[in-house]
Order: sequence, then structure tokens, then C-alpha cells
Amino acid sequence: MVRLTFVTTSIAVFVAIQTFALIVIYSRQKVQISVSDNQNNKVHILILSSWRSGSSFVGQVFSQHPDVFYLMEPAWHVWVNMYQNNAKVLQMAVRDLIRSTFLCDMSVFNAYMGENRRVSDLFQWEVSRALCSPPTCDYYKRTDLSNDETCKKHCNMSKFFKMEEACKTYNYIVVKEVRFFELMPLFPLLADPSLNLKIIHLVRDPRAVMKSRGKSLPALMRDNGIVMGANGKPIEKDKAEASNYEVMKEVCRSHIQIHEAATKQAPDFLKQRYMMVRYEDLVRDPLNEISTMYKFTGLTFTPKLRSWIYNITHGEGAGSAFKITSRNAKSISQAWRTEVPFEKVLKVQDICQGAMNILGYRLVQSEREQKLSSLDLVLPLREYKFSWLSSAEDPS
Ligand SMILES: *[C@@H]1O[C@H](CO)[C@@H](O)[C@H](O)[C@H]1NC(C)=O
Ligand SMILES: *[C@@H]1O[C@H](CO)[C@@H](O)[C@H](O)[C@H]1NC(C)=O
Repeated sequence: MVRLTFVTTSIAVFVAIQTFALIVIYSRQKVQISVSDNQNNKVHILILSSWRSGSSFVGQVFSQHPDVFYLMEPAWHVWVNMYQNNAKVLQMAVRDLIRSTFLCDMSVFNAYMGENRRVSDLFQWEVSRALCSPPTCDYYKRTDLSNDETCKKHCNMSKFFKMEEACKTYNYIVVKEVRFFELMPLFPLLADPSLNLKIIHLVRDPRAVMKSRGKSLPALMRDNGIVMGANGKPIEKDKAEASNYEVMKEVCRSHIQIHEAATKQAPDFLKQRYMMVRYEDLVRDPLNEISTMYKFTGLTFTPKLRSWIYNITHGEGAGSAFKITSRNAKSISQAWRTEVPFEKVLKVQDICQGAMNILGYRLVQSEREQKLSSLDLVLPLREYKFSWLSSAEDPS
């Protein structure tokens, strides 16, 4: 009898201990699951822009940050492989590639690249500081500022799988893309619990973009064909300029679409996840604007980055990291006013009027106004500037 009681008691105690242990294990697991839902609080940043709008510069501002894993235009591979399709059709493939990239699942590139590939087979890989430092390459330290030409010389042998390995060691994954023309296809990513997506929408005065597009490079023409739905046919040389206007029209339409989707009928999941930046504001006050972008995403300035950005936007430090930007950025952003013929300016204003009104770019009525440097054509953006940002501290 005594023995039986003892056994019963033991069983009861045993069951109690088991239950307690299970509760502890379960509650721990619950914590772990909710953490891994959010990928250990990783932040995924999409720099959403258009051709010739200063997005390489903004990309560098993120790429050179020691906490950031950056890829520039990974969807280039989608467009190059499926050039017979139009931009709207490709948008979904682009979105899926970006989602996988954010999650550091680089197997998505199997669809677009050959076997036995290297990191150096990836479009513009050398502008990513993360791909020029460990664990991908030992040439630079992770806290160094990298130089694309130098990186190309010393890091071009890394195996492709190293990219995935590297990606997983970073908390901020940043991708720059010019291949979206709407915000809607990105809604599923914004609502996806495995992602913590922030969108920086970078725009630029269409008249300045047009000047920059003037040099009709073959690569731009291929992209033009995809935007215009030319079914893979190349744009003929004599149609290059006309195609630039067509694409500009599409880009301006997309500015309106994206901006309105984000500010007018914005769904809740967009709150604190969308920020518009004008290139002109950025070059006028780079440190301040960049600090606002960093704050929006949760990054902080390092003294080295601060000094580097000052140098490259003020034309100092010859031979510094990025030749495209180590000039006086502010005067370059206004070069169209003296260099673009007035008829061209009128033509761009005609096709982009709606977008220019929304984005705060003032139209010129005469050649005199165009050339009058004291007339500021970039209007202040007070009313909706960073309306989502005011409560950026909210971690939700
Ligand atoms: C890597 O760079 C070196 C030095 O510039 C060059 O000789 C070599 O051909 C490059 N290799 C690849 C795979 O691009
Ligand atoms: C910026 O330029 C100054 C003066 O040339 C130089 O001393 C400094 O090291 C540069 N900063 C960076 C981060 O390159």
C-alpha cells in the first residue's frame, strides 16, 4: 500500500515536472518563433527609383555603411533574360527576386545565371562594399570604405555562395531598383510578416533626367524597349530620342502612381514604411537628408561616413571612392538649366506636368526663366514631406 502510494506520488511529481518543462519549452519556442518571423529584427530597404535619378549615389550612401548588405539592381538579370516581355509582365518576377534577396535566399538567381558562377557574374557587384569584404572577400575590412575599381581587381574570384553567407551576417539588407512602375505589386511584401520592408522613393526633376538620358547608351535602349513593350525588338538609332520621351512619360506616370498610392489611399501597412526623397533636396543638404533617411531605416551615421559624404558631395578628395559623385553635386543637378535647349524643356514639361506639380518642380514659361539662376525651380515640400516619418520611432 505504502509502495503503491509512493509510486502514485512519484508519477504525479513526474507528470508535474514534465508539464512544467513542456510549458517552459513551449513558451521559449513561442518566443523563438515570433523572433524568427521577423528574421531577428532584420530591416529590408528598397530604394525605389528610376534611371538617371541619383540612385547610384543613394545606393552608395547605404552600401558603404558597415551594417548594410547592398545589391544594386539585381533585377537587371530578370530583364536581360526575359527581354521579350514588357515591364508590367516582368514586375512580378522582379518582385519575387527581390523578396528572396531580402531573405538572403540567393538560389533565386539559378533562374537567371549559369552554374559555377562567381559573385563577379552579378551585375554591378563591385559597388557593394559587403561583397568586397569578409566573408566574401578579404581585401577590405568590413568597416572600410570600398572602391569599386579596386574591389573589381581583388575580389573577382569569390564563389557565388559566399554572397548568401555574407548576406546572412547583416541586419540591414538594401536593394536598389529602377524596374518598378507601381507600388501595388509591392503590397504583399509590405504585409509579409517575414519582412520588415521600408521603401525610399527617390525622384528627380524630369528635365534634369532628360538631360542625363540624352546620351542614348545601348543599355538604356534595351531597357526602353522593355518599358515600351517592344517585344524584344531593339530601338532603332533614329528612334532613340523619341523613345527617351516615351519612357520619360512612363516614368512620370509612375511617380504619380507611386506617390498617390503611398499618400492618398494608403493602406495601414504602409505607415512608416514609405518615404519620398527628391534628389535636389539631397544634393542641397546631403548630410541632413541622409541622416533623415538613416533615421527612417534605423541606421546611424558614423564619423567616417559623415566625412566621406561631405567629401564626395563637395568635390574634395580627388580619386575618392566614387568618380560619378566626387564632383560638386549641387551645381551638376542644375546643369540642365543652361545645357538643355528650351524646346526640349517645354516638351518634357508637357509630358510630365502632372508629376512635376505633385513633386514640387516649378515649370518655366520662357527661356529667360530657364536660365535665370536666381529663380528656384525646386519648391519646398512641407505639406507631405515625410508625413509617415513623424512617428518613425514607433517600432511596429
Ligand atoms: C580578376 O582580376 C584579375 C586582375 O585584374 C584578372 O587578371 C582576372 O582575369 C580576373 N578574373 C575574372 C574571373 O574576372
Ligand atoms: C575627406 O577629405 C579630407 C581632406 O582631403 C581627408 O582628410 C579625409 O580623410 C576625407 N575623408 C574620407 C572619409 O575620405
